Amino acid sequence: HRHLLGIAGLKPADILVLLDLADRYVDKNRAVDKKMSLLRGLTQINLFFENSTRTRTSFELAGKRLGADVINMSVATSAIKKGETLIDTAMTLNAMHPDVLVIRHPDSGAASLLSQKVSGAVINAGDGSHEHPTQALLDALTIRRRKGRLEGLTVAICGDILHSRVARSNIWLLNSMGAHVRLIAPPTLLPAAAERLGAEICTNMRDGLRDADIIMMLRLQTERMRGSFVPSKREYYRFYGLDRDKLSAARTDALVMHPGPMNRGVEIDSVIADDIHRSVIGEQVEMGVAVRMACLDLLTRHLTAGRGAA
Ligand code: CP
Repeated sequence: HRHLLGIAGLKPADILVLLDLADRYVDKNRAVDKKMSLLRGLTQINLFFENSTRTRTSFELAGKRLGADVINMSVATSAIKKGETLIDTAMTLNAMHPDVLVIRHPDSGAASLLSQKVSGAVINAGDGSHEHPTQALLDALTIRRRKGRLEGLTVAICGDILHSRVARSNIWLLNSMGAHVRLIAPPTLLPAAAERLGAEICTNMRDGLRDADIIMMLRLQTERMRGSFVPSKREYYRFYGLDRDKLSAARTDALVMHPGPMNRGVEIDSVIADDIHRSVIGEQVEMGVAVRMACLDLLTRHLTAGRGAA
């Protein structure tokens, strides 16, 4: 593969290679000296058209730990603010010969469009409500390290499925790896023809959480609800917020996950988010750096041959 645009284009074997390599980078990231020279001389540009804490920081750390020169293009201070199109920005950056472009954009398909215009590898760091492949990979790595497998697990993805690129990438990945996926959401936050996504659909939390091994909570993406129905936070929490009572329907060893950013008291009770026995939210962030290192490593192998990867 030249680019990482989504999970949809990956085979189970590709996913396994990425997860196995990321596993090795977890150990390297725990060492005192985290700096490697595998990507020495290579240039990585992070192009974020939407806000981000975890993804932008971890892509920057991942590139720097591998020895690449990493540039963060701040859209707020770029020529995009003067009306330059995505294509013109892409052509301009391409003229500087970056080896990797990491893009986050509010429009579905933006990463794919960029990949047709530049010579370097493109990594989708989230495009609209379409895909967020590195999030699904880091979620899978977190689950596999905790549960030892993905196959046969019941994973409940709860909340604003309609606007969630995290949900879409996770559904592709989990189905591909033999897990059973349940989507739990109010009918207003499910996409049309949700049943075609390849998951069981539930509109009641207790039904959906029954015997679940993994619970993934999602944020209400009110920024994508322009003109459509926006639920009241208090009512949403009552019916769809993960609290002790609803959590008791899941398996006693069920893990609670959240891609972040989290809205405490809206989709998740603060006590559960901080419960060290149930919540793996911090671990997901740690796995995020390792997964992004694995992606950068694999997508630049044609340039780093013979240097000795992880
Ligand atoms: N999970 C995630 O994409 O978080 P950020 O928006 O902070 O990058």
